[in-house]
Amino acid sequence: MSEHTDNPPITLVIGGHGKTGSRVAERLAAAGRATRVASRSTTPRFEWHDESTWTAALDGTGSAYVTFQPDLAVPGSIEIITAFGVAARDQGLEHLVLLSGRGEEQAQAREAALADSGVATTIVRCAFFAQNFSEHFLVDAVQDGVVALPAGDVTEPIVDVDDVAEVAAAALLGQVPSGRVYELTGPRLMTFQDMADDLSKAIGRTITYLPVSTEEYVVAAKEAGVPGDEAEMLGALFADIFDGHNSSLASGVEEALGRPARDFADFAVQAAPTGVWTVS
Ligand SMILES: NC(=O)c1ccc[n+]([C@@H]2O[C@H](COP(=O)([O-])OP(=O)(O)OC[C@H]3O[C@@H](n4cnc5c(N)ncnc54)[C@H](OP(=O)(O)O)[C@@H]3O)[C@@H](O)[C@H]2O)c1
Repeated sequence: MSEHTDNPPITLVIGGHGKTGSRVAERLAAAGRATRVASRSTTPRFEWHDESTWTAALDGTGSAYVTFQPDLAVPGSIEIITAFGVAARDQGLEHLVLLSGRGEEQAQAREAALADSGVATTIVRCAFFAQNFSEHFLVDAVQDGVVALPAGDVTEPIVDVDDVAEVAAAALLGQVPSGRVYELTGPRLMTFQDMADDLSKAIGRTITYLPVSTEEYVVAAKEAGVPGDEAEMLGALFADIFDGHNSSLASGVEEALGRPARDFADFAVQAAPTGVWTVS
């Protein structure tokens, strides 16, 4: 699909070196859209917790892909997201695409706060990311062969961030309707044991899933060097999302892209040869 000619010139990609942002920026650039990646390490610098850095990052942009750190649902983020919406509106942005978490009351409140800015807001509301295993906090666990999570035998429709990025980029390029929620899941409800089985097959050695309590998870995370507040935040987040209420499939990928979502087994088969899980 071609880009609408009346689209604004630059799209700001906040968190553009991250899991979803890097993929969104890549897709926008491939479609000929000028992008500006923004985070704490870019020029201009963008820091969520320092509002004085926002103006330079927003200057001259017409739309933005918004990924909040460390997580959209953390306490205090609603005030920041609300202020960001106002700043975006005041700078004349016409479209915001917000990355959000599925089945998270706190995240959904942040979605509403951003939409209240009056800027057209599209929400990509996502299940747990497959790439948490290959590009985020579960890489070491897979390398060690034991994935310990407080998720019992709950099923989660884990989603591939390539699909997330494709939907977000399509929204920013005006290729799919904006101003609505795209609820994005993978095509299959999976237990973490199912995911461990797919990883084992793809890697060629056994990866074990170890269900633990939230308290055990937090203690182990701290012992492994995760800062205390981050470990607590993760524990609270997992207690929220892995209680079974997210155990259903959604059709956002198919609605936006006209094809089924990518399966976790395909993700594992593609990621394994990159060496990300190779033990040196
Ligand atoms: N992981 C999941 O399963 C999942 C599922 C649903 C929704 N989400 C949501 O996804 C969002 C994260 O998106 P992502 O996974 O694409 O990002 P990511 O890979 O975690 O990180 C993106 C970038 O954010 C930048 N960053 C970190 N702290 C920052 C700060 N204080 N101010 C500005 N930039 C900062 C970092 O770059 P620099 O170091 O250069 O600053 C980093 O490269 C969260 O809001 C979370 O709620 C995650």
